[in-house]
Amino acid sequence: MIVICGATGSMGPHLVKSLQDKGVPFRAAVRSPEAARQKLGAQVPLVPFDLERPATFAEALRGASQVFCAVGGATGTPELVACEQRLIDAAKAAGVGHYVKLSGIDAQVDSPSKIQRMHAEIERHLRASGLSATVLKPSFFFQNFLGLQPAIAEGVLPVPTGQAKAGLIDARDIADVAAAALTTPALRGATYTLTGPRSLSHGEVAAILSAVLERPVQHVDLPAQAFEQSLVQAGLPGWFANLLADVYATVFAPGLIDRVTGDVRRVTGHEPRSLEAFVREHRAAFLGAASAAA
Ligand SMILES: NC(=O)c1ccc[n+]([C@@H]2O[C@H](COP(=O)([O-])OP(=O)(O)OC[C@H]3O[C@@H](n4cnc5c(N)ncnc54)[C@H](OP(=O)(O)O)[C@@H]3O)[C@@H](O)[C@H]2O)c1
Repeated sequence: MIVICGATGSMGPHLVKSLQDKGVPFRAAVRSPEAARQKLGAQVPLVPFDLERPATFAEALRGASQVFCAVGGATGTPELVACEQRLIDAAKAAGVGHYVKLSGIDAQVDSPSKIQRMHAEIERHLRASGLSATVLKPSFFFQNFLGLQPAIAEGVLPVPTGQAKAGLIDARDIADVAAAALTTPALRGATYTLTGPRSLSHGEVAAILSAVLERPVQHVDLPAQAFEQSLVQAGLPGWFANLLADVYATVFAPGLIDRVTGDVRRVTGHEPRSLEAFVREHRAAFLGAASAAA
């Protein structure tokens, strides 16, 4: 039995679908069963779970042979390190055999980025726990652009990255790697650095958005502090807006993650998806209200 934590996030629903298609037994450990049913469908087995409430761990982990954890994001907690470390300890105590962690590209304990240091601390705890562990270290997700939809629909891509490039990735490719890691014992214990097929600057991303949406979109390289303020104005909690602005300023903008790897292809047997295809598939969502008003 696989327990999926973070099943309702950017990549979770794709992992759920993949395990359903393979007929592999799993359950989604979620905070809000109602919202999860809406997002994942009525057939998906659910168990109540809150990473911030260790009292929920025993029931969520009952009978689990593997745990997949992709918890975090804007609805998560600034105390992610302590919370996920407690989950790892509980998994070990419950006899879980394998833990797959979603971390971040270049997460290292001495990274200049706060969120990368947090993930690295959790990785270190996981390795020290003695659990069999597989770590997925993805680049920034294509799906983040959907969060910038209101600005994109107005013709602006406001991200503090200068001319720097990174191997942006479709979260569905991460889900494919996660599904393989959970169903192929030979892959256990590895660390995978996951990128898309090309390293892209946000100027190049804007050009792809312009071509596919058939309306001009321009990258605006605003200062990190203004980016942080705009995220707060858009409704993100201050601590998370700060973590995001920090990772763009300290890791992306200096060009530290300007590379692509072959790990998606090596693990899944298929090439990583392109940004052009992603924007085509989500064209209506990107155009949103601007399209309706036009
Ligand atoms: N986005 C990126 O570009 C990127 C790149 C590299 C690494 N990552 C890492 O990937 C992880 C997920 O990020 P994301 O962007 O996919 O975030 P996301 O879409 O917001 O998903 C976060 C998931 O965590 C769940 N969650 C949050 N707090 C929880 C809690 N206390 N208890 C149980 N579940 C909780 C959310 O559930 P609800 O539906 O209940 O809110 C949701 O399923 C993070 O650790 C992030 O650092 C992200």
